[in-house]
Amino acid sequence: MSKPRILVARAVFPETIERLKQHFEVESNQADEAWTPAQLIEKLRDKDGAFTTGSVRIDAELLAACPKLKICANMAVGYNNFDLEAMTARGVLGTNTPDVLTDTTADFGFALLMATARRITESEIYLREGQWTKWSYDMFAGSDIHGATLGILGMGRIGQGIAKRGAHGFGMNVIYHNRSRLDAATEAECKARYVSKEELLKTADHLVLVLPYSAASHHAIGAAELAQMKSTATLVNIARGGIVDEDALVQALRDKRIAAAGLDVFEGEPKVNPGLLTVPNVVLTPHIASASVPTRKAMANLAADNLIEFFSKGQGLTPLNPQVLKA
Ligand code: 8YV
Repeated sequence: MSKPRILVARAVFPETIERLKQHFEVESNQADEAWTPAQLIEKLRDKDGAFTTGSVRIDAELLAACPKLKICANMAVGYNNFDLEAMTARGVLGTNTPDVLTDTTADFGFALLMATARRITESEIYLREGQWTKWSYDMFAGSDIHGATLGILGMGRIGQGIAKRGAHGFGMNVIYHNRSRLDAATEAECKARYVSKEELLKTADHLVLVLPYSAASHHAIGAAELAQMKSTATLVNIARGGIVDEDALVQALRDKRIAAAGLDVFEGEPKVNPGLLTVPNVVLTPHIASASVPTRKAMANLAADNLIEFFSKGQGLTPLNPQVLKA
């Protein structure tokens, strides 16, 4: 029997490709060329499965042109690159990579928060540029992390990881807002108190965004929300760029409406809003929150395992729309 044909749409670890080749006929984009949607369709037309990342859009048009496609395994926990409704309507399984990246991403959220509040990037640029000629009492004085109020918008696995780091490691007072309130045991474990979005905005010294991106969360933080925050507050986004109205954020940072922001994700990434490059009080990183070597390997393995499980047993390990699977 011939092997199922799969497309690996972005470059991935060579060992992942080798593993996939044991089970599938593999076409891969190891050159990491930027394919247009039309080129992606061309490559996927004769494939049974796809190994995707967050930048590979799977939509109704592509699905209509690729009727053989049965599964898209995303190497990411977020799956806003999938039109899941269209996939479900066509019986195409989507899978993601939850859990394996939770701690690494929460670690990074905390790193970005600390870099932002303590002005690490700004001060390093100053030093590298040779501007440091003398010490002064208020040089790059930022805000404290320990004992401060940490606000978390979106309290899934990663949000809970950040809450635990803040509460247990830094003695922070943790508040959160989420679509649904956590059960009492999880709240106690995270030492986190549920508040309204309004209270979260008004009382957080540091606000971290960890909610999934959808039409409902588009620009969840815009001019009106920034206006409610403390002028000393910092904002950190490790979720998806579209959750923040970047033009409004640039204005708020320029006007010192809030003290600083740390962004790992951007609305038009890999393009960065030019306004963000002109304000000093922002720390910018290129979507690397899950980027530790062991975690990226675990993500690649889980995406590959989903493909193997699906084609060998008709199941997915971490299915997003399990209703398409046969009982
Ligand atoms: C990925 C992410 O690295 O998992 C996610 O949702 O945002 C990152 O961990 C990125 O999406 C590439 O797939």
